[in-house]
Amino acid sequence: MTDTSLSPQGTLVPWGDLRMASSGRLGQALTFADLRLMAKARLPKPIFDYVDGGGESELTLEWNRSAFDELAFRPRTVAAIADRSTATSFFGRGSAAPFGICPMGGLGMLWPKADLINARLAARAGIPFVLASGAGSSIEEVAEAAPDGRRWFQLYVFTDLALNKRLLGRAQTAGFEALVVTTDTQINPKRIRDIRNGFALPMKLTPKNVLEFASRPRWLWNIARDPRSALMGNLVQELGADPSARNAFDFFRANRKRSVGWEDLKPLRDAWRGPMLLKGIVTAEETAKALALGVDGVVVSNHGGRNLDGTLPAIEALPDVVSAAGGRIPVFLDSGIRRGADIAKALALGARAAFIGRPVAFALAASGEAGVEHVLAMFHDEVDRVLGFLGCTRVDQLDPSYVVRR
Ligand SMILES: Cc1cc2nc3c(=O)[nH]c(=O)nc-3n(C[C@H](O)[C@H](O)[C@H](O)COP(=O)(O)O)c2cc1C
Repeated sequence: MTDTSLSPQGTLVPWGDLRMASSGRLGQALTFADLRLMAKARLPKPIFDYVDGGGESELTLEWNRSAFDELAFRPRTVAAIADRSTATSFFGRGSAAPFGICPMGGLGMLWPKADLINARLAARAGIPFVLASGAGSSIEEVAEAAPDGRRWFQLYVFTDLALNKRLLGRAQTAGFEALVVTTDTQINPKRIRDIRNGFALPMKLTPKNVLEFASRPRWLWNIARDPRSALMGNLVQELGADPSARNAFDFFRANRKRSVGWEDLKPLRDAWRGPMLLKGIVTAEETAKALALGVDGVVVSNHGGRNLDGTLPAIEALPDVVSAAGGRIPVFLDSGIRRGADIAKALALGARAAFIGRPVAFALAASGEAGVEHVLAMFHDEVDRVLGFLGCTRVDQLDPSYVVRR
């Protein structure tokens, strides 16, 4: 299945009813940095660092940002821009904006029912939401929470092919649209902050952690309302008699496939009826192999700088991947998106849409559902504003001539 062109106006989806908060502390949060500080004040340090941190020296984490900042816009200032739309389309369906929510495991530690909140708000906005295989809520719970949403399922490949197929079958039955196989996490990353904090999943009740938790009573009270949110919802059915958080994480770790080759992806391609994407591709070489496998899209990503430190920033990897894809499949990007302008830069360099990770996680930690609504509306407002400033009325008018490296 391929998707080469934007669909005609008729299939474009208008932005939903999501609005930025206009009052209170959330109303004052106008940037990623504001939301990050709100989350930092609310979360115990080990949990904040788990979300915020990256691999080893956090070089890639930093480059993901600096690389966007090194790109400058070349706007067209005399243009008829009154009638603008942020809508786009991929895989034959409209999306209200050229961004979606990344797969993120462990969000149940930030706010109860985090995945359900994200899925519901993405559906209300009219944008895709990717459910992590290690998420707190299950495939079925997410389908029930957002029946009309564009729901994609992210898979970490497990050793047992039958288990992979069971998960794919459940996602297919529950109406998930696309499969996203993450290719960059077979090795356990070395995250220095997590090691120093003694962070482990599920969180251990060490004396130090108990003190950290007690220092954040608002967070503790909130999380205590639904400790099940920190489970691995998708794996509970695989656990048999004892679906405890510890067992779920042990099962996850014991069953992950630690070496995934192209031959391991073939049966997944054969089993999944619908768009399949690879997430974690940053080279033209692997894009060509992905095309040969018959995937329908790739997500250029370095896992938000959380894995191999020193990997090139996603936005710098994008042009090579776009050129290797040659318009045969859409290319998506995540890692380092912090404002609407970053999304516009990614689109200018050939991405069909971008995915947002930490901004959504911090908004959730800061203020739950209201926070996620706020951050999605903020990104939408910024994309629309930048489009207008650039002299464009539609996202498919962006091309490489709109950016230049400073
Ligand atoms: C807390 C957290 C958990 C994540 N869990 C997963 C996961 O389970 N599967 C996956 O493919 N990527 C996971 N990621 C990576 C994101 O999908 C995405 O690649 C990254 O966050 C994008 O970078 P950004 O946070 O700078 O936007 C996680 C990221 C964060 C911050």
